[in-house]
Amino acid sequence: METDPSIEKDGRMRVVVTAGPTREHLDPVRFLSNPSTGKMGYAVAQEAAKRGYEVILVSGPVSLPTPRGVKRVDVVSARDMLLKVREALCGGGEQVLVSVAAIADWRPKTYSSKKLKKSSMTGVIELVRNPDILKTINSEMRRGKLPKAKLVGFAAETGDPLQEAARKCRAKGLEFVVANDVTAKDAGFAVDTNRASLVFANGNVETLNLMSKRALARIIVDKL
Ligand code: CTP
Repeated sequence: METDPSIEKDGRMRVVVTAGPTREHLDPVRFLSNPSTGKMGYAVAQEAAKRGYEVILVSGPVSLPTPRGVKRVDVVSARDMLLKVREALCGGGEQVLVSVAAIADWRPKTYSSKKLKKSSMTGVIELVRNPDILKTINSEMRRGKLPKAKLVGFAAETGDPLQEAARKCRAKGLEFVVANDVTAKDAGFAVDTNRASLVFANGNVETLNLMSKRALARIIVDKL
């Protein structure tokens, strides 16, 4: 597979971070998305760059500045994100993918390049599943189609996150999952703090106190 020349390997450990939401367009003016602002993913990218890693940030649409020393690749949809993550991992060597993005699991079955007129819409939108990026990358690595990388995920839950995080860790072949309850006022979307637990593949759980997303990013990057 061809690698984007702007993201050619430079010898350092490469940290690929996904951040923000994806948008799944129905037509040029309408899309399905979620409230992710990208704060957590950008904090991870910033921290990894500070430590001297080569960082590629594959970002959905957000209004945050690119952290210093980070190569940013902008994407819109989940399928675009998968392509850019794959390209970023093609170089081989020591590499990690930290999947912080809130990736839409479904997209409208059809896309109209012309704005849909409300009179032509029925009120029902048929959806099809998007690829699961972590699962796809894990399976391509196992089949030797992609160079190896360590995988780290996030789990956004609205109830007890630990059990689900452990399941996701196993299902997606992850080193660990950062699990949080996105309904807590001080965690989840669009706030500067997070209250998370790290759930490891071997079943260990580290429960962390309430902290800023920057502080949580430091802990995550420590584990890489
Ligand atoms: N993720 C992914 N591809 C998707 C959806 C999610 O790679 N299509 C990643 C996220 O970036 C995150 C992890 O998988 O690191 C878990 O995402 P989450 O939304 O919590 O879980 P889902 O796998 O979508 O499962 P569910 O909807 O059952 O909670």
